[in-house]
Amino acid sequence: MINIKRFLSGSKNTAKAKLYPKQVIIPKSQFGEYIESMSQFIQHDQENIIQFIKVDVNGFKESSYTCCEWMEYCESGTLIEQLKKAKTQDKLINLLWQFLNGIQSLHEMGYIHRDIKLTNALVTTKDGAEVVKVSDFVLLPHHDYEVMTTPEFLAPEVMQDSDYSVQSDIWSLGVSFYELFSAEYPFGNRLDGYTPRDIKKNTLELVPSGFNKLPQLMQKIVKQCLNKDPAQRPGSVLQIMDVFKKV
Ligand SMILES: Nc1ncnc2c1ncn2[C@@H]1O[C@H](COP(=O)(O)OP(=O)(O)OP(=O)(O)O)[C@@H](O)[C@H]1O
Ligand SMILES: [Mg+2]
Repeated sequence: MINIKRFLSGSKNTAKAKLYPKQVIIPKSQFGEYIESMSQFIQHDQENIIQFIKVDVNGFKESSYTCCEWMEYCESGTLIEQLKKAKTQDKLINLLWQFLNGIQSLHEMGYIHRDIKLTNALVTTKDGAEVVKVSDFVLLPHHDYEVMTTPEFLAPEVMQDSDYSVQSDIWSLGVSFYELFSAEYPFGNRLDGYTPRDIKKNTLELVPSGFNKLPQLMQKIVKQCLNKDPAQRPGSVLQIMDVFKKV
Protein backbone atom coordinates (compact mmCIF):
# COMPACT_ATOMS: atom_id res chain seq x y z
CA MET A 1 0.00 0.00 0.00
CA ILE A 2 1.48 3.34 -1.03
CA ASN A 3 1.19 6.26 1.30
CA ILE A 4 -0.03 8.86 -1.19
CA LYS A 5 -0.33 11.59 1.40
CA ARG A 6 3.35 11.99 1.94
CA PHE A 7 3.82 12.99 -1.70
CA LEU A 8 1.15 15.60 -1.70
CA SER A 9 1.47 19.30 -1.24
CA GLY A 10 3.16 20.38 1.96
CA SER A 11 5.00 17.11 2.45
CA LYS A 12 8.40 18.76 2.06
CA ASN A 13 9.60 22.12 3.19
CA THR A 14 10.23 23.77 -0.15
CA ALA A 15 9.78 27.38 0.94
CA LYS A 16 13.24 28.45 -0.16
CA ALA A 17 13.75 26.38 -3.32
CA LYS A 18 12.52 27.76 -6.62
CA LEU A 19 10.30 25.16 -8.22
CA TYR A 20 8.87 24.57 -11.68
CA PRO A 21 5.23 23.39 -11.95
CA LYS A 22 3.91 21.13 -14.69
CA GLN A 23 0.28 20.19 -15.19
CA VAL A 24 -0.37 16.51 -16.06
CA ILE A 25 -3.52 14.46 -16.61
CA ILE A 26 -3.43 10.89 -15.30
CA PRO A 27 -6.14 8.33 -16.19
CA LYS A 28 -7.86 6.95 -13.11
CA SER A 29 -6.88 3.40 -14.07
CA GLN A 30 -3.21 4.34 -13.83
CA PHE A 31 -3.25 6.67 -10.88
CA GLY A 32 -1.95 4.08 -8.39
CA GLU A 33 0.93 3.21 -10.69
CA TYR A 34 1.65 6.90 -11.24
CA ILE A 35 1.90 7.60 -7.51
CA GLU A 36 4.15 4.56 -7.11
CA SER A 37 6.45 5.89 -9.86
CA MET A 38 6.40 9.34 -8.37
CA SER A 39 7.50 7.91 -5.01
CA GLN A 40 10.48 6.34 -6.79
CA PHE A 41 11.33 9.57 -8.61
CA ILE A 42 10.98 11.81 -5.57
CA GLN A 43 13.63 9.73 -3.85
CA HIS A 44 16.02 9.05 -6.74
CA ASP A 45 19.60 10.21 -6.54
CA GLN A 46 20.50 10.09 -10.23
CA GLU A 47 22.51 13.18 -11.00
CA ASN A 48 21.20 13.60 -14.56
CA ILE A 49 17.46 13.07 -14.02
CA ILE A 50 15.19 15.95 -12.97
CA GLN A 51 14.29 15.97 -9.29
CA PHE A 52 10.60 16.00 -8.44
CA ILE A 53 9.71 17.64 -5.13
CA LYS A 54 5.99 16.97 -4.74
CA VAL A 55 2.76 16.45 -6.61
CA ASP A 56 -0.57 18.22 -6.01
CA VAL A 57 -3.75 16.45 -7.01
CA ASN A 58 -5.97 19.31 -8.11
CA GLY A 59 -9.07 17.63 -9.44
CA PHE A 60 -10.88 14.66 -10.93
CA LYS A 61 -12.78 14.93 -14.20
CA GLU A 62 -13.94 12.41 -16.81
CA SER A 63 -12.06 9.45 -15.28
CA SER A 64 -8.77 11.26 -14.93
CA TYR A 65 -6.89 13.19 -12.30
CA THR A 66 -5.43 16.61 -12.93
CA CYS A 67 -2.14 16.87 -11.09
CA CYS A 68 0.60 19.42 -10.76
CA GLU A 69 4.13 18.04 -10.59
CA TRP A 70 6.57 20.35 -8.85
CA MET A 71 10.16 19.87 -9.90
CA GLU A 72 13.49 21.55 -9.35
CA TYR A 73 13.90 24.79 -11.29
CA CYS A 74 16.75 24.66 -13.81
CA GLU A 75 18.02 28.19 -14.19
CA SER A 76 20.21 27.63 -17.27
CA GLY A 77 17.34 26.66 -19.56
CA THR A 78 17.24 23.81 -22.05
CA LEU A 79 20.13 21.61 -23.12
CA ILE A 80 19.95 22.81 -26.73
CA GLU A 81 20.51 26.42 -25.60
CA GLN A 82 23.62 25.41 -23.65
CA LEU A 83 24.95 23.22 -26.48
CA LYS A 84 24.71 26.19 -28.84
CA LYS A 85 26.67 28.32 -26.36
CA ALA A 86 29.37 25.69 -25.73
CA LYS A 87 32.72 27.15 -26.77
CA THR A 88 34.82 23.99 -26.78
CA GLN A 89 34.35 20.44 -28.02
CA ASP A 90 35.08 19.14 -24.51
CA LYS A 91 32.20 21.17 -23.11
CA LEU A 92 29.85 19.97 -25.85
CA ILE A 93 30.79 16.34 -25.35
CA ASN A 94 30.49 16.68 -21.58
CA LEU A 95 26.93 18.04 -21.83
CA LEU A 96 25.92 15.33 -24.31
CA TRP A 97 27.50 12.63 -22.17
CA GLN A 98 25.48 13.78 -19.14
CA PHE A 99 22.33 13.75 -21.28
CA LEU A 100 23.08 10.15 -22.31
CA ASN A 101 23.82 9.26 -18.71
CA GLY A 102 20.38 10.58 -17.66
CA ILE A 103 18.63 8.47 -20.32
CA GLN A 104 20.68 5.42 -19.35
CA SER A 105 19.73 5.92 -15.65
CA LEU A 106 16.07 6.16 -16.64
CA HIS A 107 16.36 2.89 -18.58
CA GLU A 108 18.08 1.24 -15.62
CA MET A 109 15.14 2.32 -13.44
CA GLY A 110 12.84 0.50 -15.88
CA TYR A 111 11.42 3.52 -17.71
CA ILE A 112 11.30 4.51 -21.38
CA HIS A 113 11.53 8.24 -21.95
CA ARG A 114 9.23 8.31 -25.04
CA ASP A 115 9.84 11.97 -25.95
CA ILE A 116 13.60 12.39 -26.28
CA LYS A 117 14.86 15.60 -27.85
CA LEU A 118 17.40 18.20 -26.83
CA THR A 119 14.71 20.59 -25.59
CA ASN A 120 13.48 17.97 -23.12
CA ALA A 121 16.60 18.18 -21.00
CA LEU A 122 17.41 21.15 -18.81
CA VAL A 123 20.58 22.55 -17.34
CA THR A 124 21.27 23.72 -13.82
CA THR A 125 24.47 24.47 -11.93
CA LYS A 126 26.00 22.70 -8.97
CA ASP A 127 29.25 23.86 -7.35
CA GLY A 128 29.91 26.05 -10.39
CA ALA A 129 29.55 23.19 -12.90
CA GLU A 130 26.71 22.70 -15.36
CA VAL A 131 24.55 19.68 -14.70
CA VAL A 132 22.16 18.25 -17.31
CA LYS A 133 18.75 17.06 -16.12
CA VAL A 134 16.69 14.79 -18.34
CA SER A 135 13.05 15.84 -18.10
CA ASP A 136 9.60 15.41 -19.70
CA PHE A 137 9.51 11.62 -19.59
CA VAL A 138 6.41 9.54 -18.97
CA LEU A 139 6.25 8.67 -15.30
CA LEU A 140 4.67 5.28 -15.89
CA PRO A 141 6.64 2.14 -16.74
CA HIS A 142 3.69 0.75 -18.70
CA HIS A 143 0.91 2.83 -20.07
CA ASP A 144 -1.72 2.61 -22.72
CA TYR A 145 -2.33 6.15 -23.85
CA GLU A 146 -0.70 8.13 -26.65
CA VAL A 147 2.13 10.46 -25.76
CA MET A 148 2.05 13.85 -27.46
CA THR A 149 5.44 13.89 -29.10
CA THR A 150 7.19 15.63 -31.95
CA PRO A 151 6.72 13.33 -34.98
CA GLU A 152 10.19 13.98 -36.43
CA PHE A 153 11.70 12.11 -33.47
CA LEU A 154 9.47 9.03 -33.52
CA ALA A 155 10.89 5.62 -34.39
CA PRO A 156 9.14 3.78 -37.28
CA GLU A 157 7.89 1.01 -34.97
CA VAL A 158 6.34 3.62 -32.64
CA MET A 159 4.52 5.24 -35.55
CA GLN A 160 3.28 1.89 -36.75
CA ASP A 161 2.40 0.08 -33.52
CA SER A 162 3.14 2.49 -30.61
CA ASP A 163 5.89 0.02 -29.80
CA TYR A 164 8.00 2.02 -27.32
CA SER A 165 11.24 0.47 -26.06
CA VAL A 166 14.83 1.26 -25.15
CA GLN A 167 15.47 0.93 -28.90
CA SER A 168 12.82 3.53 -29.81
CA ASP A 169 14.47 5.95 -27.33
CA ILE A 170 17.78 5.20 -29.04
CA TRP A 171 16.25 6.11 -32.41
CA SER A 172 15.13 9.49 -30.96
CA LEU A 173 18.67 10.03 -29.64
CA GLY A 174 19.91 9.45 -33.19
CA VAL A 175 17.50 12.07 -34.55
CA SER A 176 18.56 14.50 -31.76
CA PHE A 177 22.26 14.13 -32.56
CA TYR A 178 21.70 14.26 -36.29
CA GLU A 179 19.69 17.47 -35.91
CA LEU A 180 22.31 18.99 -33.61
CA PHE A 181 25.18 18.41 -36.00
CA SER A 182 23.50 19.07 -39.34
CA ALA A 183 20.64 21.44 -38.44
CA GLU A 184 18.32 19.14 -40.40
CA TYR A 185 16.09 16.23 -39.53
CA PRO A 186 17.43 13.00 -41.06
CA PHE A 187 14.15 12.12 -42.77
CA GLY A 188 12.80 15.57 -43.60
CA ASN A 189 10.48 17.75 -41.59
CA ARG A 190 6.87 18.84 -41.58
CA LEU A 191 7.64 22.24 -43.11
CA ASP A 192 8.86 20.43 -46.24
CA GLY A 193 5.63 18.49 -46.49
CA TYR A 194 7.03 15.52 -44.58
CA THR A 195 4.51 13.16 -43.04
CA PRO A 196 5.32 10.51 -40.42
CA ARG A 197 4.70 7.77 -43.01
CA ASP A 198 7.65 9.04 -45.04
CA ILE A 199 10.12 7.76 -42.46
CA LYS A 200 9.26 4.19 -43.31
CA LYS A 201 10.00 4.54 -46.99
CA ASN A 202 12.82 7.12 -46.84
CA THR A 203 16.44 6.21 -46.67
CA LEU A 204 18.81 8.20 -44.52
CA GLU A 205 19.97 11.22 -46.47
CA LEU A 206 23.15 12.58 -45.00
CA VAL A 207 23.37 16.33 -45.14
CA PRO A 208 26.96 17.06 -46.21
CA SER A 209 27.50 20.28 -44.25
CA GLY A 210 27.55 19.35 -40.56
CA PHE A 211 27.12 15.64 -40.03
CA ASN A 212 29.95 14.53 -42.30
CA LYS A 213 32.45 16.67 -40.38
CA LEU A 214 31.94 14.62 -37.24
CA PRO A 215 34.53 12.05 -36.16
CA GLN A 216 33.92 8.75 -38.02
CA LEU A 217 33.07 6.93 -34.78
CA MET A 218 30.30 9.39 -34.00
CA GLN A 219 28.88 9.32 -37.52
CA LYS A 220 28.81 5.55 -37.34
CA ILE A 221 26.97 5.34 -34.01
CA VAL A 222 24.40 7.99 -35.00
CA LYS A 223 23.69 6.10 -38.24
CA GLN A 224 23.35 2.92 -36.20
CA CYS A 225 20.80 4.63 -33.91
CA LEU A 226 18.80 5.48 -37.05
CA ASN A 227 18.57 1.94 -38.37
CA LYS A 228 14.95 1.16 -39.18
CA ASP A 229 15.37 -2.29 -37.66
CA PRO A 230 15.36 -1.81 -33.84
CA ALA A 231 17.50 -4.94 -33.42
CA GLN A 232 20.31 -3.33 -35.47
CA ARG A 233 20.48 -0.22 -33.23
CA PRO A 234 22.91 -0.02 -30.28
CA GLY A 235 21.75 -2.46 -27.58
CA SER A 236 21.84 0.22 -24.88
CA VAL A 237 22.72 3.87 -24.33
CA LEU A 238 25.96 2.66 -22.69
CA GLN A 239 27.26 1.79 -26.16
CA ILE A 240 26.76 5.39 -27.32
CA MET A 241 28.34 6.73 -24.12
CA ASP A 242 31.45 4.63 -24.82
CA VAL A 243 31.82 6.26 -28.24
CA PHE A 244 31.44 9.75 -26.72
CA LYS A 245 34.21 8.91 -24.24
CA LYS A 246 36.57 8.05 -27.09
CA VAL A 247 36.17 11.17 -29.27
N1 LIG B 1 12.32 22.36 -14.45
C1 LIG B 1 12.39 23.45 -15.23
N2 LIG B 1 13.11 24.52 -14.83
C2 LIG B 1 13.17 25.63 -15.60
N3 LIG B 1 12.55 25.78 -16.79
C3 LIG B 1 11.82 24.74 -17.24
C4 LIG B 1 11.68 23.53 -16.49
N4 LIG B 1 10.90 22.67 -17.19
C5 LIG B 1 10.57 23.33 -18.33
N5 LIG B 1 11.12 24.56 -18.36
C6 LIG B 1 10.97 25.59 -19.42
O1 LIG B 1 9.69 25.53 -19.98
C7 LIG B 1 9.77 25.32 -21.38
C8 LIG B 1 8.59 24.48 -21.83
O2 LIG B 1 8.75 23.15 -21.35
P1 LIG B 1 7.65 22.04 -21.55
O3 LIG B 1 8.24 20.72 -21.39
O4 LIG B 1 6.49 22.37 -20.68
O5 LIG B 1 7.18 22.24 -23.05
P2 LIG B 1 7.95 21.94 -24.39
O6 LIG B 1 9.26 21.31 -24.09
O7 LIG B 1 7.98 23.20 -25.18
O8 LIG B 1 6.99 20.97 -25.07
P3 LIG B 1 7.05 19.40 -25.24
O9 LIG B 1 8.09 18.86 -24.30
O10 LIG B 1 5.69 18.94 -24.87
O11 LIG B 1 7.38 19.19 -26.65
C9 LIG B 1 11.13 24.68 -21.59
O12 LIG B 1 11.62 24.91 -22.89
C10 LIG B 1 11.98 25.37 -20.54
O13 LIG B 1 12.44 26.60 -21.02
MG1 LIG C 1 9.40 19.69 -23.01
